Amino acid sequence: MNTIYEKVDPLYPDMKVIEKAGEIIKSGGLVAFPTETVYGLGGNALDESASAKIYEAKGRPSDNPLIVHIAGFEDIYKIAEDVPEEAKVLAKMFWPGPLTMILKKSPSVPKRTTGGLDTVAVRFPSHPVAQKFIAAAGGYIAAPSANISGRPSPTNGSHVLSDMNGRIDMIIDAGPCDIGLESTIIDLTVRPCMMLRPGYVNEKMLRDALGDIAKDEAVFGNSSAAPKAPGMKYRHYAPKGELTIVSGNNDAVVSYITGRITDNPEGLRTGVLSSSGNIGRYPSADLVVDIGDADNEDLIAKRLYDTLRKCDEMNIDRIYSEEFDTPSLGLAIMNRLIKAAGHNIINV
Ligand code: TXA
Ligand code: MG
Repeated sequence: MNTIYEKVDPLYPDMKVIEKAGEIIKSGGLVAFPTETVYGLGGNALDESASAKIYEAKGRPSDNPLIVHIAGFEDIYKIAEDVPEEAKVLAKMFWPGPLTMILKKSPSVPKRTTGGLDTVAVRFPSHPVAQKFIAAAGGYIAAPSANISGRPSPTNGSHVLSDMNGRIDMIIDAGPCDIGLESTIIDLTVRPCMMLRPGYVNEKMLRDALGDIAKDEAVFGNSSAAPKAPGMKYRHYAPKGELTIVSGNNDAVVSYITGRITDNPEGLRTGVLSSSGNIGRYPSADLVVDIGDADNEDLIAKRLYDTLRKCDEMNIDRIYSEEFDTPSLGLAIMNRLIKAAGHNIINV
């Protein structure tokens, strides 16, 4: 398949491109598009054959449900039933934006879109290009992140191109995503409402909005039960090299990583995900990626997936990462990093 690739301005996209993308969706095709979190791989959420194509293009297990993206709050009533008061409260505070709500699905959403579930995930993104595209495409876009299943989510157009070229009809590139981590997911079909995936909208913000909330222990605690968001059970976000997270005080972390890089009899290619303050301290690594200042959590989140992909591009065999346990986004950042590392963490 020949993939059309169009660059647009993130605030004022060429409407001819947007209209063309809308036509592709209406005729059953797939378009990758930018959101404020990560790039999405979109198809018509109400058309089960479009959903089937999404699973195929991603190489994704079909029990893993898709998020339905809308471009106005009222559109929630077409795809969800029994919309509770909490949805309105959350929408007022966080929509459009990086929050996904799980609701009871309406009959108009095919089960192919929801991975066989009776619930549906709904998100109203804030990115201007996403909003214009969703509206041009008829209003209901099913979209997972636009990566090949198992790879880090794409946070710029070239990531999407490298995963999806030849597999989908069109890619809209509006430059890097602002946030860089997938949306927070909250389930509003249970009481108390339950946070299923951490993201930019953090636990404190949700508590301020709703009062008491629960958290999926399989994700946030030590429970070995299956996560309630099916996608959270897969080891995705992963680079090809073996990733180890090193936790502890800064000097101890640097010296541990340096020791591991130097003690490398097999001559493996080594890389480090380093905070800006430490980048000069790993001279023998083949690649040192600067993830940003240790206290600039917005930048760390924004760069995380790109740094993992850089390690792949440079064919790094062993990757060491410092820990980025920051106040507001730390939980979301470390949730992704720990999964990328397959829970391989060393305390020094
Ligand atoms: O920021 C985002 O959410 C991005 C952009 C494109 O909007 N999308 C995204 O989609 O991250 P995806 O497919 O990579 O992750 C969706 C997650 C999966 O873990 C899936 O299992 C969960 O949402 N999910 C979807 N529908 C669900 C449902 N009805 N119940 C529980 N979890 C659900
Ligand atoms: Mg994903």
